[in-house]
Amino acid sequence: MNLNTKRPRRNRKSEAIRAMVQETHIQPSQLIYPFFLMDGLAQKTEISSMPGIFRQTVDMALLEAEACMALGLKNFILFPAIDEQHKDRYASYSYHPECYYLRAIREFKARFPDCTIITDVAMDPYSSDGHDGIYENGKILNDETLSVLDKMALAQATAGADILGPSDMMDGRVGHLRKALDANGFNQVSIMSYTAKYASCFYGPFRDALDSAPKHGNKLSYQMSPPNAREALIEAALDEEEGADFLMVKPALAYLDIIAKLKSASNLPIVAYNVSGEYAMIKAAAANGWIDEQRAVEEVLMSIKRAGADIIITYFAKQYLQARLAKA
Ligand code: PBG
Repeated sequence: MNLNTKRPRRNRKSEAIRAMVQETHIQPSQLIYPFFLMDGLAQKTEISSMPGIFRQTVDMALLEAEACMALGLKNFILFPAIDEQHKDRYASYSYHPECYYLRAIREFKARFPDCTIITDVAMDPYSSDGHDGIYENGKILNDETLSVLDKMALAQATAGADILGPSDMMDGRVGHLRKALDANGFNQVSIMSYTAKYASCFYGPFRDALDSAPKHGNKLSYQMSPPNAREALIEAALDEEEGADFLMVKPALAYLDIIAKLKSASNLPIVAYNVSGEYAMIKAAAANGWIDEQRAVEEVLMSIKRAGADIIITYFAKQYLQARLAKA
């Protein structure tokens, strides 16, 4: 027998040693939990493709947020479902003084001053065309969209948002927003840029949740092509130069290589968005008894962190922390 003296299994021989050598950890402070909001009071409907996740009125969301806060989960990203009657070509309801989404931001911050509120800056929930930018004759108008995004961003900053999340993928939007924020006294409001947002089928359940699917065409002229990796580095360099405070990769699981690339290319915090379709897949397989749900959640979140994400936006945040607490 000619066995090597090096035996990696020594570092796996007990629970204590395995814990000692564990390389990747998830802290509650690094998780962000999404809320799907709707106007009104005391209503809550489960999203059929996302068991455990609801479209809910602000009062109900605040109750759920209270439970999250008790788990140490204090970072929330808010998405609005908008009544059809408020939608128009220019998403003008997004900065209307009575827009319920702006009220939601104020109410979250008033009720939980030490929570972090991240917003969504994009036209699609408010757009009668269902696109992230102004749609005209089959095209998305980039530079015209930027001034709509400025108004939306300023309204959200005025409402008290801590971090703005431009998810629209228009060219130059980070710099444009930064300038508008600074010129209006909001130099402390941060920008978490959806740097590498791919044109993905994994957003399907989200669009059902918000009724925000494009009415015509698709998002291929602004969201990134799934086969491209180097292009994400171009986006990252631009966002960094334009003043982004965080760089995001979205979706997470089919794009772990992109997370790793951005991590080595930038010193900014890297955020990964574990999106709706990724959540739905695990829920569906678990409901059929085909995988162990809790282990799948843990393994998937660890893989995203291991790839290099500092922060994860995930619909699993609450259940993951609840399960962890129950185990401890
Ligand atoms: C829209 C937006 C989308 C998501 C977040 N912001 C959908 C899209 O671009 O069509 C998807 C999130 C998810 O699937 O969980 N600006």
